[in-house]
Amino acid sequence: MTDLLPSGHPRIDHLEMRGITKRFPGVLASDHVDFDVRTGEVHALLGENGAGKSTLMRILYGLYQPDEGEIRLNGQVVSIQSPADAIRYGIGMIHQHFMLVPTLTVKENVALGLKSSRSFLTDLDKVAARIEQLAKLYSLDVDPDAVVWQLSVGQQQRVEIIKALYRGAALLILDEPTAVLTPQEVDEFFVILEQMKRDGHALIFISHKLHEVIQLCNRVTVLRDGRTIGTTKVEGTTKQQLAEMMVGRPAGLQPTKKPLDAHEVRLSVRNVEALNDRGRPALRGVSFDVRAGEIVGLAGVSGNGQRTLAEVIAGLRPATSGEVSLGGRNVTGLSPRRVMALGLSYIPEERMRDGMIREFTVAENIILREFDQPPYARSGFLNQAAIQRNSRELVNSFNVKTPSLETPAKNLSGGNIQKIILAREISRRPQVIVAAQPTRGLDIGATEYVHARLLEQRDQGTATLLISEDLDEILALADRILVICDGRIMGDVPRAEATAEKLGLLMAGVES
Ligand SMILES: Nc1ncnc2c1ncn2[C@@H]1O[C@H](COP(=O)(O)OP(=O)(O)OP(=O)(O)O)[C@@H](O)[C@H]1O
Ligand SMILES: [Mg+2]
Repeated sequence: MTDLLPSGHPRIDHLEMRGITKRFPGVLASDHVDFDVRTGEVHALLGENGAGKSTLMRILYGLYQPDEGEIRLNGQVVSIQSPADAIRYGIGMIHQHFMLVPTLTVKENVALGLKSSRSFLTDLDKVAARIEQLAKLYSLDVDPDAVVWQLSVGQQQRVEIIKALYRGAALLILDEPTAVLTPQEVDEFFVILEQMKRDGHALIFISHKLHEVIQLCNRVTVLRDGRTIGTTKVEGTTKQQLAEMMVGRPAGLQPTKKPLDAHEVRLSVRNVEALNDRGRPALRGVSFDVRAGEIVGLAGVSGNGQRTLAEVIAGLRPATSGEVSLGGRNVTGLSPRRVMALGLSYIPEERMRDGMIREFTVAENIILREFDQPPYARSGFLNQAAIQRNSRELVNSFNVKTPSLETPAKNLSGGNIQKIILAREISRRPQVIVAAQPTRGLDIGATEYVHARLLEQRDQGTATLLISEDLDEILALADRILVICDGRIMGDVPRAEATAEKLGLLMAGVES
């Protein structure tokens, strides 16, 4: 392995962070944190939303400077002032939001930022050759000449890994890498990580999914409120124990569900056809109903039309034919604003992009959909008291960690930003909820809370379409399960008859 690393990169046998403290205005994000990782190990970093995982890793990658504490590499204290320093020490980081240039090819993206004396073009051939070499070594199947925007999310992630390996990363930080992957992609991804581990890389793995930690990792460190709760071997540790270390109380309970009490059809989709971003047919005659008081799950491997369907229902994408009705009223072709005013709550999959405005405060994001309606607006004036009262209530009940209601949303942790959008959409007393991947990126406590709120809405008579790649989530919540494959509904299975195997076959396009 080491002979493939460009010379001059140090091997990382042992990396230690000792007594790391980091303060932000109003927040102690890291409070004397201790953490270490060794070559040949995958070390999990666990903790609730806002516990300080990303902050600690940004310090290690040189994006933030700690207020106190030290970092030791193979016993020597080092100073990491920037990502360039981190890369020089052999530390790489894969961010949850990829940093690739979509219009460039894979090899151009890998070559970007590399210093070179030769011309860019001759170098590109060299880069392509190295990419193929690395790809073969780690079963990272990517075409160096492919243009990045045409790649799936899983493939883009492989490009990020190749980029880090190319720069000689001996230690790789992975911040929630599986949050954006399908279950199949996760399996492939783990094969790659196992190979890297065998080759002597050190890996730091952040995830909210405890079964992934148990499957992949050697040791785990748990953070809570910026403090280290403990580090332990994963072998012999149960999911339950990890959950308790994280939240400080028993967790991971299955939600209890009342019997189904469904009423009139609230959402009706009839023969809908639509195109995706590349102008190709993504929905091929989709029809189904969702009634008041039921949760209908939409299962499927990502990329089979789920996102297009959600966007058509929300008025964000035109249907080329067919009809969508909400509460008996044809809403096909209406603007998103109109559809939402008619009683649709939409929890988009790309929440960071479609669900909020990063520069706005927490309170402003909470009233984003209804700022021009009572009680927030009366005769053209904003009612600050009502805005404050309602925002505070939602922040408390969803347990959003924020220094204040006036904090810009972009300063919150990833999971806490998500909670704001969920709080806003679930609390609007909608007629219909379309929820896409509603618990992606949420910690165990927040996931339980969202599940409980979706069931509460169902019991109050809301019609819910739950789009999720997480079969456990669908099986826990849905009354009926639709399976989508290649833009067609392959099956409509009552919950009582649904098994993971049966759904899996339908998801693969095998007709029942
Ligand atoms: N740039 C920043 N400015 C101000 N506060 C910040 C900044 N970055 C992080 N914080 C705060 O530090 C705390 C820890 O955030 P961090 O992103 O490290 O959490 P996390 O454990 O990664 O959570 P999640 O699971 O939700 O991603 C949070 O309270 C967050 O609001
Ligand atoms: Mg984070």
